This record gives sequence, C-alpha cells and structure tokens, in this order.
Amino acid sequence: MTDEGFTVTPYTVSGEIDYEKLLEQFGADRLTDEQIARFPEPRHPLVRRRVFYAERDVDRFLRAANAGERHSIVTGRGPSGAMHLGHIVPLYFAKHVQQQTNALVYIPFSDDEKYFVKDRSLEEIGAQTRDNLRDLLAVGFDPDRTRIVVDTADADVVYPLAVAFATEVTQSTFRATYGDPENIGHSFYPAVQAAHLLLPQLVAGRHPTLVPIGIDQDPHVRVCRDIAAKQRYDLDKPGALLSKFLPSLEGPGKMSSSDSGSDTAPTILLSDDRDTVLEKIHTHAYSGGRSTVAEHRTHGGDPAVDVSYQLLYSFFENDDDRLDRIAREYRDGSLLSGELKEMAADAIASFLDAHQRRRQQLDSLETELERYRLTEREREAAHRRVGYTHLKP
Ligand code: TYM
Repeated sequence: MTDEGFTVTPYTVSGEIDYEKLLEQFGADRLTDEQIARFPEPRHPLVRRRVFYAERDVDRFLRAANAGERHSIVTGRGPSGAMHLGHIVPLYFAKHVQQQTNALVYIPFSDDEKYFVKDRSLEEIGAQTRDNLRDLLAVGFDPDRTRIVVDTADADVVYPLAVAFATEVTQSTFRATYGDPENIGHSFYPAVQAAHLLLPQLVAGRHPTLVPIGIDQDPHVRVCRDIAAKQRYDLDKPGALLSKFLPSLEGPGKMSSSDSGSDTAPTILLSDDRDTVLEKIHTHAYSGGRSTVAEHRTHGGDPAVDVSYQLLYSFFENDDDRLDRIAREYRDGSLLSGELKEMAADAIASFLDAHQRRRQQLDSLETELERYRLTEREREAAHRRVGYTHLKP
C-alpha cells in the first residue's frame, strides 16, 4: 500500500482509490470536455459520463479517426476465470467505436500472464481461455477489421516481438512499475503486453492506436510507450483511455474476479441468468437508501454511493433524461431502494440475455475464430518491422 492508502497495479487493486491522486501517480491526463466533444456521435455513455476519465494521447487518435485515416484500438483480456460485467466495459466500447469509425480492433488474450500470476494449472487457464473467447466472440466485432491473438496459440507471431522488446525493460523498471515479480515468466510478461499494444502498427505501419482499459492496466501502457519512444522501430506511442472501475456489489472499489464465490459479495457474471442477477443485486448491492421506507421517503437516498445507480450510470442506462429522473426521484425519496435495484437488475439482465443469445448462436470456437486470426502476411509484416526473419515451422 502506498502513502495514499490505496494501490493500483495490473496485479493488485486495494484500498479506497482516489482517482485524482492516481492520475498524478501515473502521470496521465484528465479527459477534457473538448476531447469528449470530438468523439463521434452518439457518444458512448462511458465517455460522456466520464467513466473513461483519463487519457494519454487521445488527440492523435481522434484526429485520425475523424479524418478517416488509419487508426486502431487494442484492448484485451487475461483469461483467469469467468468474465464479469467489468470485463466487458472496454470490449463493448471498442465495438461501439469500430461501428462508428471503422477502427481496426486488436484483442489479445494473455493466457501466459494469468498462468504466471494466478494459482491455476495450464489446463484450467486453457479452459478459461476457451470460455472467455466465446464471450469475446459474442460481442460481435467486424471480422474484417478485428484480430484476436492468444499468446500461447499465436506464439509464432507474439514471441519474436516480445523478444525484440524485452531488452528495453530492465528489472528495476519492472519493480518500480509492478512491484516484486512472482517468477521469471512474470518479469518477462510486460514485453508481451507491449507487443500487443504495438501489434496493429507492426502489422499495418505507423498510426495512432488507442488502448481503452481499466486504469489498473495503465502501467503496461507506460512501459510500452517508453519502448515505442526509443524510435528504433518507427512507431507511435500508443494512446490510452483509462476508466474508473465498475464497483463491486458491496460498494466502491473494483468489481473483481476474486470476489466470485466468496460469501460476502458475489460478482455478476456474463453467464448469470435473470433470476441470479436479481438475487445478487437484491441481496448484495450496496444501497444509498435509508434504513426504513419512512426515513427514505422523508430524507431520500444518495445515488453517488448506490451500486445499483452506479451500474446504470456507468453502462446500463443509455438514456440521459431517464437517468437524471432516476437520480432526482431517488434523492427526493419517491424512488425506493428496492425499486432502484429492480431497475438495475432488469437492465443488466436484459443486456446479458442478448449477450448470452449471441453466445449460444456461435459455431464451434475454432470455426468462429478462424475469421479473426492474423493472416500469414500480417504475421510476416509484424516480424519484418522488428527485423525478425521468418522461419516457417
Ligand atoms: P483483465 O483480464 O484483468 O481485465 C480485462 C479488462 O477489464 C478491465 N476491468 C474492469 N473495467 C472496469 N471495471 C472493472 N471492475 C474491471 N475489472 C477489470 C481491465 O482494466 C481490463 O481492461 N493484462 C490484461 C489483458 C491484456 C490486455 C492487453 C488489455 C493483455 N493484453 C492489451 C488491454 C490491452 C488483463 O489481465 O486484463
């Protein structure tokens, strides 16, 4: 834990996060009104409501996207367990932007990373990779403009790139950025994530890339930007759009996979059915309401700390007028905590219904993935950029 009383790294999120102080710690910039206005309309609620609240070099990305020039998005997943609502934030955002601007989207799966840092067998990580990939495919990216890369399965392309970048990251940079490594695999991993973030440029040539992520992933972006800045490979530093966390059901703090299964506050999983969502929210969602109905009617509730409201605000209620009305009625006491929970559960369950329906309609994983894999030419192009001579196996 730092002096500020909280820690945020890709491997530990703890304490009460002060998002403003975190920006100082990380050296990222607050997203400005002017930048928000330059996102194409309709702007995603995550942007217009500042859940994505900070950025690095978003201007270059927006300029290219608005001018119809080449631009790309990289966002990914470390498949260590079942996916929860927090994990789909960057993915659905990336899909939204792709539909608006035709962005190239690259989605790496760091199964190696999760094996290094989580206490799971290769077999377990493999099963989670397959399961999570189906959730990713259910999001519905455009196969012509989207590439999915799994570190171990696409090692032929990823490994030489990570090798090229690994010499740029010293052990002391690792320690200063992430803390003590779990093992030597973990020490090497930042070079792999740097390869992910640079991959669109390695394949298609220098251009602005945006990395929408929860702010816990920003250390990887910083390490990668330092590598790109060396100019050995003629690459733009990837930009970033950094989000606050969707709260855990028990209140502010990161919704996290390690919550699932605990008897205090479970997480809402992408596989939860309507009744499960209702039950989890009713039983566990922290309420900003008063302890009795009479008190609530007189004094009203506080949407700012109410998890059901926060979930609607962050992602699940697109209509600003409706959201304002909900906040107003909650504050003045006419909307009760149970009613607000009902609204949130209903919105989340409907979203999950649609997601699960798309997931069920998928063909076999291998068949579906085929359309999203890097072509041989793309693999060779990436290797050429780092000076690796391709040897066919
Ligand atoms: P992972 O699998 O831990 O998380 C995937 C993405 O979900 C975000 N996230 C959240 N966002 C909002 N609220 C939450 N409660 C919440 N919990 C998780 C994470 O910030 C992340 O953006 N190393 C990565 C996977 C990865 C990657 C990449 C990501 C590999 N290469 C390139 C982005 C770009 C990881 O373990 O994410």
